Amino acid sequence: MLNQLKSKPDFISAWIRNPRQVGALFPSSGCLAQAMAAQVDSVNGLTIELGAGTGAVTSALLGRGINPKRLVVVEKDQILADKLTSQFPTLAILAGDASRLQQLLKQNDLGLAENVVSSLPLLNMRIHTRIRVLSAIFSSLHHDGKLIQYTYSPAPPIPKQLAHSMQVYGYRIDRILWNFPPAHVWVYRRFRTLLNDA
Ligand SMILES: C[S@@+](CC[C@H](N)C(=O)[O-])C[C@H]1O[C@@H](n2cnc3c(N)ncnc32)[C@H](O)[C@@H]1O
Repeated sequence: MLNQLKSKPDFISAWIRNPRQVGALFPSSGCLAQAMAAQVDSVNGLTIELGAGTGAVTSALLGRGINPKRLVVVEKDQILADKLTSQFPTLAILAGDASRLQQLLKQNDLGLAENVVSSLPLLNMRIHTRIRVLSAIFSSLHHDGKLIQYTYSPAPPIPKQLAHSMQVYGYRIDRILWNFPPAHVWVYRRFRTLLNDA
């Protein structure tokens, strides 16, 4: 959990600027970041990281062998986005809002993604914002793409009824105790995958 403390000043400053948007008092631990990165199965497919914050998950994605040319990082807080750009000068860091993901990808000539790895505080968002963000995510994923998301609450980031209406399904794949607070890792896909696989 050392990196949780190392990047704490930047994180706390971002939290002071906008507590609801940051949604946590600590960045992700190495354990949580690695558990998220482990769910990405294609290292050369387009991977989008949302809400990268201080870059813990970004480092884990690179450590997992994700092709840096195929990794796009989106962060809404301009100061954190600028720090990410200095920390990862070879990556495409987009300062922007995940609810505008399709437009961001289009403006940067990027196609559909295989994986979206999200640290967004979905459970902190008002329901209409959450729906807007989730619609943008699933519209930016290939039909068999994956959303990888963590939460601090054991409640799913997409409630069952909402998942059903959005035609997605998901489950908790991991529980990380070595993080403050302990976290749950979830994976979601579109229903269509089941039909395509049949
Ligand atoms: C829980 S923190 C991220 C923690 C990150 N894994 C780390 O270790 O630093 C959530 C991040 O999502 C960003 N965020 C929140 N809403 C966003 C949105 N709509 N679009 C893009 N980023 C957003 C926040 O600015 C914050 O950096």
